[in-house]
Amino acid sequence: MNYMPAESRYENMVYRRSGHSGLKLPAITLGLWYNFGGVDTLENGREMIRRAFDLGITHFDLANNYGPPPGSAEENFGRVLAEDLKPYRDELVISSKAGYYMWPGPYGEWGSRKYLVASCDQSLKRMGLDYLDIFYSHRPDPNTPLEETMGALDYIVRSGRALYAGISTYDPEQTRQAAAILRDLGTPCLIHQPRYNMFDRWIEDGLLDVLEQEGIGCIGFSPLCQGILTDKYLKDIPEESRAAKYDGAFHWGDSINQDRIEKVRKLNQLAQARGQSMAQMAIAWTLRHNTMTSALIGASRVSQIEEAVSALKNLQFDGGELQQIERILAA
Ligand SMILES: NC(=O)c1ccc[n+]([C@@H]2O[C@H](COP(=O)([O-])OP(=O)(O)OC[C@H]3O[C@@H](n4cnc5c(N)ncnc54)[C@H](OP(=O)(O)O)[C@@H]3O)[C@@H](O)[C@H]2O)c1
Repeated sequence: MNYMPAESRYENMVYRRSGHSGLKLPAITLGLWYNFGGVDTLENGREMIRRAFDLGITHFDLANNYGPPPGSAEENFGRVLAEDLKPYRDELVISSKAGYYMWPGPYGEWGSRKYLVASCDQSLKRMGLDYLDIFYSHRPDPNTPLEETMGALDYIVRSGRALYAGISTYDPEQTRQAAAILRDLGTPCLIHQPRYNMFDRWIEDGLLDVLEQEGIGCIGFSPLCQGILTDKYLKDIPEESRAAKYDGAFHWGDSINQDRIEKVRKLNQLAQARGQSMAQMAIAWTLRHNTMTSALIGASRVSQIEEAVSALKNLQFDGGELQQIERILAA
């Protein structure tokens, strides 16, 4: 059936400006790392993308390697775009990235101009797009001059392949240097995409300050620590969960251990006292910084997206609540 987006889609979403740029992003962004690949059900992915857009989520985050298999999330997103969202292209902010392994040989990963430009072209083709809104260097490359990687981002923007440039997982010093190079080239760095959640707070040690000083936005990925910061693992590991499906092993060193579950149990009580679910409080907590433009969530079903968007009804934390969270996390 033909898709008609909800007329109410802009009524409740919060939009925040990315750094000093002209671009506003929804406070909740949907990422397609998991659950949108060739191994997943396209119809479920389609429903999630449609529902997200109906709720005002205008920003969809992809990367060359999302799937599995790598590339298939972009292909599936391209399908949904062609069938459902094409008339609304100007209402969407679509991002992709290159940096991790994508194809064999010396030009299939990291940060050379050769790899980034070729990968960007492949992403455009897979999604059937004329241009991306944001193109990221997915990770810093210790063996390629930063000038080359940033020069490639500048070229990608100047050649019309993308409207804005971004960087992901660069440390504070690398970020400062990248920002200076991009500024000199005339393509300011729009946004940084680091991981940020209650169990991983590395960005509080300098990165947020650099972003504020440089006028760069921030989109924090995995605000739910891949699902650990929800109530889903409080009793056991449900069959239909990322932890069970991926053999109990999460990426990025995440693990479900007793210490974390105990903390989530206590945090969950605080969330309930605030009238929120655990997931909602975890998302709201990442958005408490002025520099935080958007929380970049993942989802396996429509209800998770609805729950995340409802987090925006209460983004305020009083001093006592923040202290309580600090105490629970430090225990
Ligand atoms: N730049 C980078 O290097 C990088 C790296 C990683 C991710 N990312 C981006 O960040 C996005 C989000 O990452 P993420 O998926 O790790 O984010 P996340 O929001 O921390 O975790 C999402 C997962 O948590 C579970 N979940 C979500 N809402 C829930 C709820 N209300 N109750 C219970 N469980 C819930 C779902 O897993 P199940 O239902 O399957 O258990 C869902 O897939 C990615 O799609 C990608 O775009 C970027």
